[in-house]
Amino acid sequence: MNEKNAATQHAHMTLVDHARGTSYDMPVIRGSVGPDVIDIRHLYTDTGYFTFDPGFTSTGSCESKITFINGEEGILLYRGYAIQDLAEHSDFMEVAYLLLKGELPTAAEKTKFEHDITYHSMLHEQIAYLYRGFRRDAHPMAVMCGVVGALSAFYHDSLNISDPRQRMIASYRLVAKMPTIAAWAYKYAMGQPFIYPRNEMRYAENFLHMMFATPCETYKVNPILAKAMDRILILHADHEQNASTSTVRLAGSSGANPFACIAAGIASLWGPAHGGANEAVLNMLTKIGDKRHIPDYIRRAKDKSDSFRLMGFGHRVYKNYDPRASIMRRTAHEVLGELDKTDDPLLEVAMELERIALSDEYFVERRLYPNVDFYSGIIFKAMEIPTAMFTALFALARTVGWISQWNEMIEDPSQKIGRPRQLYSGQGLRPFKPIHQRM
Ligand code: ACO
Repeated sequence: MNEKNAATQHAHMTLVDHARGTSYDMPVIRGSVGPDVIDIRHLYTDTGYFTFDPGFTSTGSCESKITFINGEEGILLYRGYAIQDLAEHSDFMEVAYLLLKGELPTAAEKTKFEHDITYHSMLHEQIAYLYRGFRRDAHPMAVMCGVVGALSAFYHDSLNISDPRQRMIASYRLVAKMPTIAAWAYKYAMGQPFIYPRNEMRYAENFLHMMFATPCETYKVNPILAKAMDRILILHADHEQNASTSTVRLAGSSGANPFACIAAGIASLWGPAHGGANEAVLNMLTKIGDKRHIPDYIRRAKDKSDSFRLMGFGHRVYKNYDPRASIMRRTAHEVLGELDKTDDPLLEVAMELERIALSDEYFVERRLYPNVDFYSGIIFKAMEIPTAMFTALFALARTVGWISQWNEMIEDPSQKIGRPRQLYSGQGLRPFKPIHQRM
C-alpha cells in the first residue's frame, strides 16, 4: 500500500478523437490506495464532450479520506483501520469519533466525546408533538425522514455551516439524537409511551432501553445483545460514496441545512436496492418459509422475465464476500445462541439459501455473495425488533458516516454545487401548435 495520504497528479491520459482527427491530454490523479482517476473536470470546456455514466459505475464524485473499499478483495477500511479490527477491538463511540475526526480518540478524548454525545441525546419536547401528527401505522422510515428533517427547524444556533464549531455541534446532535428518534418511531407505532434517554447508559444499550423499556417495570438490557447492537452500528457506520451518502453530499453541495441533508440521505437509504434490503430479506425468508421451497425461489431469481431477486445477495462494489457480512454471520450465531433461537426456522432457510446460492453457477459467475443486509435482518428478528424498524436502525448507524462525509465536503476547497449533465434524446426544437391544431 502506498503510505502517501494526499492525492497527486502523476501522469496524463491521452484521449484520441478519431472523428475530429485530434487528441486531448487529461491529468491522471493518484490517491493513497486504490485505482487512479482521470481528471475530466475540464473535459467539456476543452473538448465539448460530456462523459456518460448513469449509475456512476466508473465515476469518482469526490476526493475523500474517510472510507476505502476494495470490492475485488473484500477490503473495507475506516480512516485506514480494517473493519475486522474495529468490530473486534473497538466500540461504536470510538468509531464515530474516528469517522468524524480522522483519528481514534485517546482515553480522555473518548470520555469527553461520550459525555458530549450523551448530553445531546434528548429531543426538544416539542418534537414529541410532531410524532403525534403521524398515523400510528406510518412506516418508521417515513417518520425518521420527517423528524430528522424537522430538526432543521429546531437548532438555529448551528446553522452557519461555514463555522466548524457549529458544524460539529450539528454533527454531535445528529449522532446523539438518532437512537432517540428511531426508538420513539417504534414506541409511537406500538402506542407505548416514549422512553427518555438515560445518561448512565452506553450508546447501544441506551437505544435498546428506549426501544424495549416501559414505565411499568425495570428493564435490564442484555449485555450480549447491547454488544451485538454496538457491533452492527460499527459495521454500518460508513460505506464510501453509496447512494444515500452521495445524496447527502449532493443535497449539502448547495449549502443546505445539515439536518435536511441527512433527511435526504434517509430517504435514499429507504429503497430496497439499498438499506431497505434488510427488511426485504426478512420478508423474503418469511415468504420462502421452508427449505423445500428454496429451489423454486432460486429459479425465479435467475429468470430474467421475473422481477424477483434474491434479497441480501449482490453488491455494486463487492465482487467478493462483503467483509461485514462475515462478521455479521458470526454475530448472528452469537445472538441466536444467547437467545436460544438456533433452531429458528427462518435461520435454517437463510443458511440453506446461502449454501445453495454460493454453489449455484448463476450466482458464482456473477459473483453474487450475501451482503451485510442478509444477516442483519436475522439478528434484528432474533432481538424481536419488528421488520419495519430494520432500515431505521441502518439509518441510525449510518448517520455518523453521512455527517462525516458532509463535513468533509464543506471543508473541501474544490467543493462546488453538484450539477451533473445528461445525454438528451428527446425532441429537438419544434414549432408550438395551438390546441385546435393538435390531433
Ligand atoms: N438476485 C438475482 N440476480 C441478481 C441479483 C440478485 N440479488 N443481484 C444481481 N443480479 C444479477 C443481475 O440480474 C445481473 O445479471 P445479468 O448480468 O445476467 O443481467 C447481474 O447479476 C448484475 O446485476 P446488476 O443489477 O447489474 O448489479 P448492480 O451492481 O447494479 O446491483 C444490487 C447491485 C442493487 C445490490 C443488486 O445486486 C441487487 O438488487 N441485490 C438485491 C438487493 C440487495 O440486497 N441490496 C442491498 C445492497 S447492500 C446495501 O445497500 C447495504
